[in-house]
Amino acid sequence: MPAVESLHHLLSMKDVTNEKIHDLFSLAETIEKQQNPNKFQGRFAANLFLEPSTRTKSSFHVAERKLGMEVMELDRADSSLTKGESFYDTLKTLESIGVELAVVRQSEAGLLQKCTKGLNLSVINAGDGCGEHPTQSLLDLYTIHEHFQSFKGLHVCIAGDIKHSRVARSNALALRQLGAVVSFVSKPEWQDPAIGRDYISMDKAVKECDVLMLLRIQHERHEKKEADISYLEQYGLTKEREARMGKHSIILHPAPVNRGVEIDSDLVESPKSRIFRQMTNGVTIRMAVIEALLKGEL
Ligand code: CP
Repeated sequence: MPAVESLHHLLSMKDVTNEKIHDLFSLAETIEKQQNPNKFQGRFAANLFLEPSTRTKSSFHVAERKLGMEVMELDRADSSLTKGESFYDTLKTLESIGVELAVVRQSEAGLLQKCTKGLNLSVINAGDGCGEHPTQSLLDLYTIHEHFQSFKGLHVCIAGDIKHSRVARSNALALRQLGAVVSFVSKPEWQDPAIGRDYISMDKAVKECDVLMLLRIQHERHEKKEADISYLEQYGLTKEREARMGKHSIILHPAPVNRGVEIDSDLVESPKSRIFRQMTNGVTIRMAVIEALLKGEL
């Protein structure tokens, strides 16, 4: 079998083979046991976040610092993007001053694929609009694997604003590749056949799925603002529905959570919920991704 080519950047789950996903899980498990994973002391990372973020930005910061890296936090207001500098030139500038890793969140799907060719630093897509969010997907997969140890035949239902969700896109791709069965729950106007065609009701989902992955309504990407009244009853996870879930099943949500909209507030920290565990795993998996990229092993 030909050797799997290593990735210079992590931009899409399309580029990550099952073998690489499992290698990252092994590396993450090793990292979890390490007392002092300070491997990249004195090396520079830049986090360029042009859209709001709490989890991704702060967990990359923690991951980079735990690996011993020097971290620069940039946003649009304090970068020369405001003066018309292109994304390529911004990244080329970071490369030229010795930055080895750039973590980028911005709103244009696919932009990084166009402006990272030929760059000699590693770029991680930390969410590109409605495009992809590969490290969110990897931490979700890691959390599922932690509970079920396998993906083969697992029924994962992704519920919410599918059309505008980079998390749904990355996860649907990776989960199918790993052998899971992926279904969706969504209002008709938020369904997206490019992500998946198997739409079911929330009542069927809670009865049948092993993993229920809830998503936030992405109001910021909608042209028309709609009130959330009755969303929970029609499409969300109520306490009554949660009681009908299988004993073994778990609840995921990439967060931020709108409590009382896609999920009853009391269920966010319920026994089935892995929502805060996902965040903890986010640091570990991001450390694994950074280590693998910087060593040319991803
Ligand atoms: N899940 C996630 O990407 O959260 P943030 O937008 O807070 O980074």
